[in-house]
Amino acid sequence: METIKVNFENRIDMEWIEQGAEIIKRGGVVAFPTETVYGLGADALNQDAVKKIFEAKGRPQDNPLIIHVADADLSAFAQEIPGKAQELMDKFWPGPLTLILKKTDLIPMETSAGLDTVGIRMPSNETAMLLIRASGCPIAAPSANISGKPSPTNFRRCVEDLDGRVDMIIGDGSSIVGLESTIVDYSVHPPRLLRPGYITYDDLLTVDHEIVYDEAMTRADEKEIPKAPGMKYRHYAPKAPLTIITGNEGKVEKRILALAENYQNQGKVVGVLAPKEREKMYNKENIRFISLGSEKNSSEIARNLFEGLRTFDDLNVDVILAEGFSEKGVGVAIMNRLKKASGFNIIEV
Ligand code: TXA
Ligand code: MG
Repeated sequence: METIKVNFENRIDMEWIEQGAEIIKRGGVVAFPTETVYGLGADALNQDAVKKIFEAKGRPQDNPLIIHVADADLSAFAQEIPGKAQELMDKFWPGPLTLILKKTDLIPMETSAGLDTVGIRMPSNETAMLLIRASGCPIAAPSANISGKPSPTNFRRCVEDLDGRVDMIIGDGSSIVGLESTIVDYSVHPPRLLRPGYITYDDLLTVDHEIVYDEAMTRADEKEIPKAPGMKYRHYAPKAPLTIITGNEGKVEKRILALAENYQNQGKVVGVLAPKEREKMYNKENIRFISLGSEKNSSEIARNLFEGLRTFDDLNVDVILAEGFSEKGVGVAIMNRLKKASGFNIIEV
């Protein structure tokens, strides 16, 4: 398949947006930017179009898609909207928050993967909003990565994963949030935080103090049935095995350097992921060091996390050693993704 590729530099070109919308209307698939990560979109109401998303990504059929809207009137898609869910939308939309609601029959089973609920989000990225409006339908979109890989946060990574597999790829720079949206399930009571994100648990509690969060729910081995089906798959994983080293600061560095030396003696190429404050410490002795930014700036770490993981693939490292980050605020979401990338391979020192 020939993929049309357009990357907006400084301004959005409406002609290309219109072309993307035409493709969506005709039942095709278009990768597009959002403020969280890039999405792979199709008409959420067209079951044949939605099937193409699963094919292009190699996504398991039992993993539901969220739909992206440009209009806050959800009555066509959701049976009922609890008052607190509405308050959350009023406060955080457009933005990186997805709400799970009981769906109407208008949403095909292909989109919801057989569930009677649907995830809905209004993105704040301008290109995304213009594309949804021009398409005239909600756009179903998972992250635009090949299933299992870290989500793409820029045009280049989308092209890497999807060139030749989709009708069009639209880019407009790097996603400013860098982590997928926070997901809250309002089809159950009490409502449940299913996936932490840039909008933190504390942010949510300011609106609805009943929301519960059980981190173990996102962990999910075969014995557990996670609420968000996507949480059960190995996720966000770079090619090389990743180990998180966490605990007392001085000890973490010592352990990472000792492990690195060990691996190097076995002839392995070692990658280290840590805040830029530790650059001098690790940027030596054949270590491929990637900094995600300052540990004082968790938004910066979040923004750079997936691109950092994907850069290790380019560097052909054999193993990755990652410093654990503080699990405060956005740090909860950062560590949620990093733990999944490690397959919960964590050393505490
Ligand atoms: O920020 C985001 O949410 C990005 C951008 C493109 O909007 N999208 C995204 O989609 O991350 P995806 O499919 O990669 O992740 C959505 C997650 C999956 O874990 C899926 O299982 C879960 O949401 N999910 C979707 N619909 C659901 C539902 N009805 N009930 C429970 N979980 C659901
Ligand atoms: Mg995804």
